[in-house]
Amino acid sequence: MRFVTTFPLLLSLLLLTHGAPSSEKPLPLVIWHGLGDTYDSEGIQSVGDLFNVLYPSTFVYPIRLASSSSSDRSATFLGDVNAQLEAVCADLAELPELAEGFNAVGFSQGGQFLRGYVERCNNPPLKTLVTFGSQHNGIAEFIARCEPGDWVCAGARSLLKGSKWSALVQSRVVPAQYFRDPEQIDEYLEHSNWLADVNNEREEKNKTYKSNLETLERFVMFMFADDETVVPMETSWWAEVNRTSGVVTPLRESRIYTEDWLGLRKLDLQGRLEFETVPGKHMRFEEGVLKRVFEIYFGPKGKKGEWHWRGKQSEEL
Ligand SMILES: *[C@@H]1O[C@H](CO)[C@@H](O)[C@H](O)[C@H]1NC(C)=O
Ligand SMILES: *[C@@H]1O[C@H](CO)[C@@H](O)[C@H](O)[C@H]1NC(C)=O
Repeated sequence: MRFVTTFPLLLSLLLLTHGAPSSEKPLPLVIWHGLGDTYDSEGIQSVGDLFNVLYPSTFVYPIRLASSSSSDRSATFLGDVNAQLEAVCADLAELPELAEGFNAVGFSQGGQFLRGYVERCNNPPLKTLVTFGSQHNGIAEFIARCEPGDWVCAGARSLLKGSKWSALVQSRVVPAQYFRDPEQIDEYLEHSNWLADVNNEREEKNKTYKSNLETLERFVMFMFADDETVVPMETSWWAEVNRTSGVVTPLRESRIYTEDWLGLRKLDLQGRLEFETVPGKHMRFEEGVLKRVFEIYFGPKGKKGEWHWRGKQSEEL
């Protein structure tokens, strides 16, 4: 029996290594877009297309909070982030393509929301999370250039100018829920509807958040070198900035890290946490940047590289 099956067995092994075996296939990619964007915008579609040029027929899922573009867009400004995350958790859990786990890229606020997904749900499990210009340590100011006639944006902005700590604003205006001014830390700890909780900054720590975040294989935080939209831009690296003195407290010097409220210290000591920079203003990607990110961070298992951006000379897509 044994002798007879040896040959066909070998043959099928050969075939397997030629047609990529499942362990060599890249994981599916989930994308969470930023404020004012939609899951089906041209930009998000081109991100998915780029991924599929590199990794043909690999599943891509742009997160949405509604199937219509306009409702999905308005949900980036208005809504309760806790409820939105719950809806996303339910959606992702129902996608059979993600059952074995997935990688994800989060643009701007989508980045901290994906991190919240890991902490609160992580079923199916997220393996490598890459965030671009995200506000992991909140924003101290809301800068959004609203287009004329964009009443959703204008409405959110005017609400944020007023009482950002009121229950109404905290439960309905998305950016208010990651507002964090070090000069108003008491108000933040008391009233923040979302960030203070997922950042485990309150007295009572949630152990699940920590144990879930610790399961990430890789957590990569990109900051845009010339970000003028996110205040302070160092929040993309989870740092805190005193805007009076200009003093920047890096994540590694904050209690969230030194006392390891979220497992970030553990990730870092094991080489699974990265602080990286991309050139350009907020969400303005230089040509070739995303392709390189996809090659380094989202390739087949075992082919992990390091981020060294040398500029545009790297191969064109
Ligand atoms: C911690 O977070 C998990 C996941 O969201 C939740 O189920 C649990 O109730 C939370 N625990 C506490 C003590 O808040
Ligand atoms: C920021 O720096 C100023 C000036 O040094 C200082 O007075 C203030 O207490 C600092 N704020 C915080 C939150 O540490």
